[in-house]
Amino acid sequence: MTAAAATAQKKAPAGLSNTARELMEEINQEAGKHNIWVRTQANAPAQRPWFSETAGEGSGQLASGRVAANQMKTLPHLWRWSEFSPYLHRISEIARKAEVSPIEFADRQSILLLNPGLNGRLQVTNTIRCAISIYNPGDVAPVHLHSPNASRTILSDKGGYTVVEGERCDASRGDLILTPNGTWHDHGNDSKEPVIWIDMLDWPLIEFLDAAWVDHDMPGAQGNARVQPTTHRDGYSRRLYGRGGMMPTFVSHQIGVGRSPAPLIHYRGADVHETLHGLRKEKGDPHEGIKIDFVNPVTGEPVFKTLNYSAQLLRPGEETELKRETAGTFHVVIEGTGATEVGGKRLEWTQNDIFVVPNFLWRRHINTGKNDAVIYSVSDAALMRNIGQYYAQGRDKNGKVTELVH
Ligand SMILES: [Fe+2]
Repeated sequence: MTAAAATAQKKAPAGLSNTARELMEEINQEAGKHNIWVRTQANAPAQRPWFSETAGEGSGQLASGRVAANQMKTLPHLWRWSEFSPYLHRISEIARKAEVSPIEFADRQSILLLNPGLNGRLQVTNTIRCAISIYNPGDVAPVHLHSPNASRTILSDKGGYTVVEGERCDASRGDLILTPNGTWHDHGNDSKEPVIWIDMLDWPLIEFLDAAWVDHDMPGAQGNARVQPTTHRDGYSRRLYGRGGMMPTFVSHQIGVGRSPAPLIHYRGADVHETLHGLRKEKGDPHEGIKIDFVNPVTGEPVFKTLNYSAQLLRPGEETELKRETAGTFHVVIEGTGATEVGGKRLEWTQNDIFVVPNFLWRRHINTGKNDAVIYSVSDAALMRNIGQYYAQGRDKNGKVTELVH
């Protein structure tokens, strides 16, 4: 073969490939009606490793092309208490005067947070849904259970309750009350003031897996409001499991019908506060400050297989080093004032504000206030660890990147 012929042969595939694409697109005109697509594009959108310098690129953008059709990216975002709380009070006022209460036609009086990168879906990350609910005095949400895991983080000082598998949990500010998948639960407010809490669920994930279901027919549910009887004394699960390092030997750790639920369902804000503040003189984690995880007391693992819950304290003036991970994290500010820099944005937060740090993006937290800041968080890092997809990196002030393995 001559050199010229060899060159011509080398060039041929480029020309052929264009023709091939056109020919294949022509086939697609016909194949579409059979719900078939002949592949004419490369995979998209992430054609680089997770740790490459993205600087926010791709975040929040709709992926293009058939291969990644409708794939969406979570954006960093902050919801201010000063902006969302007026809506809660307005729906509370409507409900107070309504003949048919919103709790009857909409199940709840709540607002749902929408991540602006997720195209109107009712979710704050790809796996997490967040609703903020307000219960007027006398409101009752009937007993039910569902396959998604759920929790509520209490914003009001006190008032309101959740009953889980026969245990009534009276709610106070900063409490975390879990309703693991497959546990019967009902809610209400028998105090004199409206109460507000934040519901967080792995609903979008379970829905994506087409495994979301709800059951309202609890055998033995009582009264018109259909609530479950309380079969344990208040504080039952805390008495059994509420002290670290000790576990009862005479009970089954199973609650409800779900798989491997965490049997400690009520974490009190007062205990979280005392624990964090008691540790504030320790060195802490350069990427997180003083941080604690809420764990299943039986296994030491995250409370849900999909989501892990944490609380962290940042001391006045504390600035964490940069960190990024292959998990999305949702934060609620319980105390203090500060900022989180993420993906080129600076989110300035104060008490009761809520913000999201998407996966892959460098972030750091700064306490800009005069007092300690306390932030609660929920992350799908638990899921990512369980499926072998969790990675994290830190970057120190000199720009040195280290792998953070947990
Ligand atoms: Fe529920």
